[in-house]
Amino acid sequence: MCGIVAYTGEHQVYEFLIKGLKRLEYRGYDSAGIAILNGDLKIFKQKGKVSDLEELTHNADISGTSGIGHTRWATHGEPNQVNAHPHISQSGDIAVIHNGIIENYATLKDLLISRGHTFNSDTDTEVLTHLIEEIQNHEKVDLFEAVRLALNEVVGAYAIVILSKHHPKTLIGARKGSPLVVGVGEQNGEYYMASDATPIVEYTRDVIYLNDNEIALVSPEGLKIKSLENVEKTPYIHKLELTLDAIEKGGYDHFMLKEIYEQPKSIYDSMRGRFSTQDLTFAMRSLREYESKIKNLERVIIVGCGTSWHAGLVGEYLIEEFARLPVEVEYASEFRYRNPVITEDDLVIAISQSGETADTLAALEMAKEKGATVYGICNVVGSSIPRMTHAGAYTHAGPEIGVASTKAFTAQVTVLTLLALGIANIRGRLSKQQLSTMFAELEAIPEKVHHLLESCADDVVRISAQYKDSNNFLYLGRGYNFPVALEGALKLKEISYIHAEGYPAAEMKHGPIALIDENMPVVVIATNSAYYEKVLSNIQEVKARKGIIIAIVTQGDQKVKAIADHCIEIPETEESLVPLLATIPLQLLSYHIAVMRGCNVDQPRNLAKSVTVE
Ligand code: G6P
Repeated sequence: MCGIVAYTGEHQVYEFLIKGLKRLEYRGYDSAGIAILNGDLKIFKQKGKVSDLEELTHNADISGTSGIGHTRWATHGEPNQVNAHPHISQSGDIAVIHNGIIENYATLKDLLISRGHTFNSDTDTEVLTHLIEEIQNHEKVDLFEAVRLALNEVVGAYAIVILSKHHPKTLIGARKGSPLVVGVGEQNGEYYMASDATPIVEYTRDVIYLNDNEIALVSPEGLKIKSLENVEKTPYIHKLELTLDAIEKGGYDHFMLKEIYEQPKSIYDSMRGRFSTQDLTFAMRSLREYESKIKNLERVIIVGCGTSWHAGLVGEYLIEEFARLPVEVEYASEFRYRNPVITEDDLVIAISQSGETADTLAALEMAKEKGATVYGICNVVGSSIPRMTHAGAYTHAGPEIGVASTKAFTAQVTVLTLLALGIANIRGRLSKQQLSTMFAELEAIPEKVHHLLESCADDVVRISAQYKDSNNFLYLGRGYNFPVALEGALKLKEISYIHAEGYPAAEMKHGPIALIDENMPVVVIATNSAYYEKVLSNIQEVKARKGIIIAIVTQGDQKVKAIADHCIEIPETEESLVPLLATIPLQLLSYHIAVMRGCNVDQPRNLAKSVTVE
C-alpha cells in the first residue's frame, strides 16, 4: 500500500520519479505527489493518478537532481490533494514520503500542537515530519540522528524517505514493516530508493534490501546504514535478476491480460528444476534441509489473504490427499489475533505473492515465536516473508503488476503441489507409480494451459458479452474446484464490481439457491471427478429454477453439455491438478466482463496489490 520512490545524483530527477511512480501505482492510486530539491523544495501533489500529477506539472519548473515521489492508498485522511504526500515540516524545510501507518500519531500530534506546531492534513505522516524537525531543533542533533530518535518514538509500520532543503544530494530512508530497496547507481553519489525494485532496475542491478529497524543515509560520501539502536550495519548488495520487459505490457492492453497469457511460462518456471521425472526425485532445497522435521510433522497450517488464501485451500486438499497430514487453512488476519494452539511439530506455511502482506507477516511471526517451523511461498524475491522464514520456495512467476492476482495464483498452486508431493514422499506415502504419474501430468500442464488459452478465448468473449450487465454471479465447485469457485468469484468482483459469491456446490441448497432466477448466471466447475454426478445434480437444481449455467467441463463431456447454457472445455488431467486449468477461463471471463463494463482492470477502485497495513 502506497509506493515510494526517490533519487539523488547528477541526472534530472523528474522523469525518474514519474516513471517510477507509474511502476509502483499498483500499490495505490488515490493521489500522487513529488518533491524536488533545487535550492528550495518544490512540491507538487494531486488527487488521483500519476497521470493527473503529470498534467499538474505540465508547465512547472521541475528541474533538480534530488527528489522523492509517492503514490497513495489512503489510510488516514480522505484521498485529496492536502492529504497527498510528500508532507512537509513546520518550517517547510523537510519533506517526507511514507508507506505504512503511524499508530500513535494522535498522541504525538497532541504533543506537537502543545509545542506550537500547526498541521495542514489529517495524515499520520505529517505528524512524523513535524516530529523529526522538533527533535532536530530541540535536541540539537543532525538530521540522521533526529530521524533515528523520532522513529524510536513511533509505534507502527513504515517505509519512509526524507529530503531536506539543508541537505542537498542526500536522502534518508528507513523501514519497519514496509519494504524499502536502495539502489546503488553507477556514478559516485548516485542512489535510488523505492518500495520495490521495479523503478530501479532500468538504472542499476545493485540493490540493498533494508531490514526492519534500519535507517539508510545516501550522499556523495556514500551509503551509511544504522539500526534504530544506533548500531552501524554493513550493507549486503544483491544483484537484481528482474528484466525490464517483465514489468512492461509488451503489446497487451492490460497487465492482467499479459499475466493471464504468461501462465504457460510462469507455471513452468515455478516447477522448473524442482523434480526429476527420470529418477523420481525432488530437487527442492527446503525439502532436503528440513527432511527430519517433515518426517515428524503433526500438522500443517496455511495462512494467507485474498487469492493467496484460495491457493492455500487448494494446498489443503493436496497435502491431505497425498501426505495424509491434517491441514488447517487460516485467514492470516484472524489467525494472528486468535491465540491459536501451535506446537513445535507444526509447519506453518505463509502464501503471499508480494511477501509483504502485513497480516500474513504478523501471523507468521507469531507462529515462529511459538516454535513452529515457518515456510514461505512468495513471489517477490527479497521481500519480508522469505527473509524471516526458516525455509521456503519462491514461485518464480515473475513480476505481477495487475492488482488482481492471476499468474501468481497458478504458480502458488504449482509450488503447493510439489510441496505436497515432496512431503508425501519423505513420509513414505507415495508409490513410484503415483509419483511418476504426477510428475508427468505436472510437466504437461504448461502446454495444456497454452492450448486452453487459445481454445477458450472466443467462447469466453461471447459469454462475457452476454452477461456483462448481470448484477450477481454465483460460482460453484466441489473438492479441488471449491477454491477455484471462490477464486473465480473474487476475480469477478474485484475488477468488474459485479457482486459474485463462490460456494461449495452442495452448500447452494442451504441459502444461495434462494437467489436463483432467470437472471442469475451460475458458473459451475463440473470437470471429471469423484463428484461429477453430484455436481450434475446441482446443475439440475439450478436449471429447475431457471438459472443460467456456464459450465467448465472436461474435454469430451456429454452430460453437462446436454443441460448447460454454455460450456467451456478444459483438457483432461489428474483431478488434483484441475485447479491449474479450470482457473484460466474464469480469469478470462472476469477480465473480458470488466473491460466490456469500462472498468480499470489493472487498477480496480479501492484496492491495492500490496497490503502493508492491517
Ligand atoms: C490484495 C491483492 C490480492 C492478493 C492479496 C494478498 O488484496 O489485491 O490480489 O491476493 O492482497 O496479497 P499477497 O501479496 O499476500 O498474496
